[in-house]
This record gives sequence, structure tokens and C-alpha cells, in this order.
Amino acid sequence: MPSKVALITGASRGIGRGIAVEVAGVGYDVLVNYAGNREAALETKALVEGAGRRAEVCQANIARREDADRLVQATVETFGRIDLLVNNAGIAPKVRADLLEATPESYDEVLATNLRGPYFLTQTVANRMIEMLRAGVISSPRIVNISSISVYTSSPSRGEYCVSKAGIGMMTKLFADRLAEHGITVNEIQPGIIETDMTGPVRAKYDKLISEGLTPIRRWGRPEDVGRAVAAIAAGHFDFTTGAAIPVDGGFHLRRL
Ligand code: NAI
Repeated sequence: MPSKVALITGASRGIGRGIAVEVAGVGYDVLVNYAGNREAALETKALVEGAGRRAEVCQANIARREDADRLVQATVETFGRIDLLVNNAGIAPKVRADLLEATPESYDEVLATNLRGPYFLTQTVANRMIEMLRAGVISSPRIVNISSISVYTSSPSRGEYCVSKAGIGMMTKLFADRLAEHGITVNEIQPGIIETDMTGPVRAKYDKLISEGLTPIRRWGRPEDVGRAVAAIAAGHFDFTTGAAIPVDGGFHLRRL
């Protein structure tokens, strides 16, 4: 039987790579999307192959509509199917600027990559999934969006990031609602503080906060923590769940007294 196929955006490193490895572990072949670093994407490919699955890489800037369309086309031409879309690619603002000083240019850049890109990529993939379901090519497609604790946590030095992630929260609900009749689930993972290149510049700050008890579980999250949650969805363990936000955050979301 042909393998299921996962299209994972921004899978060349960090959380996206962790997701690629873990979904390979539950039987998926993987299309590794990357923005610029082909070498890193090939490392992810090798890790997936090491888990016994097929992987191919495809450069595409998901902020650009034509790139996103090309990415979907490449996935279908290469593998013939898409069973899982993981909207993982995302960026932090280039500069952490105070809410009273941040620029429209930074806002537009962050929103284009973190929200507008995934929104229309999901639209395109969802339409393909519906066609493939009708043709009997796939049977249980799923979509997973990687949002953040920034969906509900105020960080006034990166407001545009928070707004983009809050948008992913509503996007998850919208597509979950619209696609349920087709048997496509859409869920959101809300990672907490995860050790990747993105958090590299603020490592010392978070080391201190975590050791002082910011998160009930006093450690950094790791890409594989997020990857395993996606793999649980990919493996079908959450097929009666849609439109949900699943925290992978060491308990960050708990209100404590
Ligand atoms: P990272 O910076 O290590 O990796 C992001 C990946 O996305 C890179 O491979 C990058 O090339 C790719 N990417 C960026 N812009 C792209 C574009 N326009 N087109 C295609 N690919 C693009 O970041 P990390 O930490 O692995 O983040 C992954 C996702 O998880 C992001 O959406 C981020 O917002 C989210 N997240 C990260 C947290 C953390 O603490 N690291 C916490 C919560 C959410």
C-alpha cells in the first residue's frame, strides 16, 4: 500500500524538522519545504530516510502565493497525494520593537509569512484533498497548524508576531468548521518555549525565567515534543477532534496562585 504523505512547511530545521522525523516514525513520507537553506533541508531528508521513509525537498517561500502553489504542485507530482499538511513555517520580527514604535513593514512581513501564506496554502491544499478524497486516493486527511502561546500571551515587543499567531487560532477554527463535512480535521498545536534557532537570541533570558518557574515543567521544550504531538494526530489518535488548540508548553497556560 502506498505511504501517506506529509507536506511540512519550514521543515529544514527546528520544530519543522522535529515534526518531519516524528511523522516519518508513524509511517509518513515527507515533502520537506524550505525557504533558503537547502543543505539543512537535505539533512532533514536524511533523517526521514533514516527512519525508513521517503523524503524530498522543495524550496518555496510560503509568503508568496505562486511559490505556495508550486509547492503543492510539486508535492502532488512527486508523491501523488497529500494526507497531512503541517503549517509550521514562521518568523519572528527581525527587530523586537516596542508596540509604540514597530513599523508597518515588519507587520506586513510577519503577517505575510505567519498568516496570509498559511491561510491560502491551506485553501489550496484543502481543495486538493477534497479532490483526492473524491477520487479515492486518500482516506483520512488532516491539517495541523503550529501556532504558539502567543495566541493569547501579550509580548508588546513583538506585537505583529502575537497578532499573526492569534490569526492562526481563528484560521484553525474556520477551516475545521468548513472541512468537517469532507472528513478533514484541522487542529492547532500551541508550542511554549522551544529550543530552536528562533529562540536562540533570547536563550539566556528564558533560561533564567524557566529556572525561576515560568513554566510548571521547568525545562525548555524540544522540537520532538511538538513533533510527537503532531505524530499523534497524524497517526489518527485525534480523529474525533477538530478545531482544537493543543498546548505543548510545559504547563505555561496554567493560571497559578
Ligand atoms: P526556526 O526559525 O528555527 O525555523 C523556522 C523554519 O521556517 C525555518 O526552516 C525557516 O527557513 C522556515 N521559514 C521561515 N519563513 C519561511 C517562508 N517564508 N517560507 C518557507 N519557510 C520559511 O523556528 P522554530 O522555532 O522551529 O519555529 C517553527 C514554528 O513554530 C514557527 O511557526 C514558530 O512561530 C512556531 N513556534 C516556535 C516557538 C519556539 O519557542 N521556538 C514557540 C511557539 C511557536
